[in-house]
Amino acid sequence: MSGLQIDKLSMRFDLPNGSSVQALQDVTLNLQAGELLSVLGPSGCGKTTLLNIVAGFLAPTDGQIILNGHQVTGPDAERGMVFQQGALFEWMSVRENVGFGPSMKGMAKAEKHKIVDHLLDVVGLQDFKEKAVYELSGGMQQRVALARCLANDPDVILMDEPLGALDALTREKMQGLVLKLWKETGKTIILITHSVEEALLLGERLIVMAPRPGRIHKEYRLPFAEMGVDQDLREVKKHPDFGQTREEILSMIWDMEEEIMGRSEDAA
Ligand SMILES: Nc1ncnc2c1ncn2[C@@H]1O[C@H](COP(=O)(O)OP(=O)(O)OP(=O)(O)O)[C@@H](O)[C@H]1O
Ligand SMILES: [Mg+2]
Repeated sequence: MSGLQIDKLSMRFDLPNGSSVQALQDVTLNLQAGELLSVLGPSGCGKTTLLNIVAGFLAPTDGQIILNGHQVTGPDAERGMVFQQGALFEWMSVRENVGFGPSMKGMAKAEKHKIVDHLLDVVGLQDFKEKAVYELSGGMQQRVALARCLANDPDVILMDEPLGALDALTREKMQGLVLKLWKETGKTIILITHSVEEALLLGERLIVMAPRPGRIHKEYRLPFAEMGVDQDLREVKKHPDFGQTREEILSMIWDMEEEIMGRSEDAA
């Protein structure tokens, strides 16, 4: 069976002072292979925890993750992660960073070079392949991170605020690149973002999570990612449904933040 099942996932963190945090409660989600899901929600609602469990970095207190019919019990190259920033190997060149996964697998040099060259073409960094990571701009570094993730040929790509540290223009270009990669590679992608616009543009499916306990509050199926594959993203944003859904989600998250603030003021 292909696809990713997130099945009744719960996660409780027990703290040294005896209290505990219910970071996730009963989160269930079935993704078909090739789906692109974006995840929104206020700070602390469990987004990163969810991604870390799917990545296999954390074991849930309840529930399970099933990928292509088998249970996830730890990290594996079938699930690649792209972080917000700073996850590249600073002492390696661009080419070595992208080729890291294939090298670890013991892939023959000629085949590895072919894959690395192809991916550097895809992300537009062919001319930078001998550069060191610190010589690159933030946007270029994130393109290396995407290429390095793709070099492992994962079934699922997990992204935690991958474009969050970029300036607005670079971010927009990268959003187009994510859509292009999604269409060309057919990977299943889960993308966490704090930007409502980005979540609308990049998620053919979108979940809004709520905190305390972290859970799925609302789910949308959206046409904008598909539209953005061959339309200018600025044009997609002008679609009347885009603006309407953006306002609806913004109010939803705003209300949650208000409630959280209210509660912490009560506690003070
Ligand atoms: N290792 C940990 N130990 C204890 N508590 C944790 C741990 N990791 C996360 N938490 C708690 O679990 C909750 C969810 O955290 P998480 O990092 O998943 O939120 P998030 O939605 O990613 O937030 P943000 O948008 O700020 O990145 C928070 O209350 C956080 O304090
Ligand atoms: Mg987070």
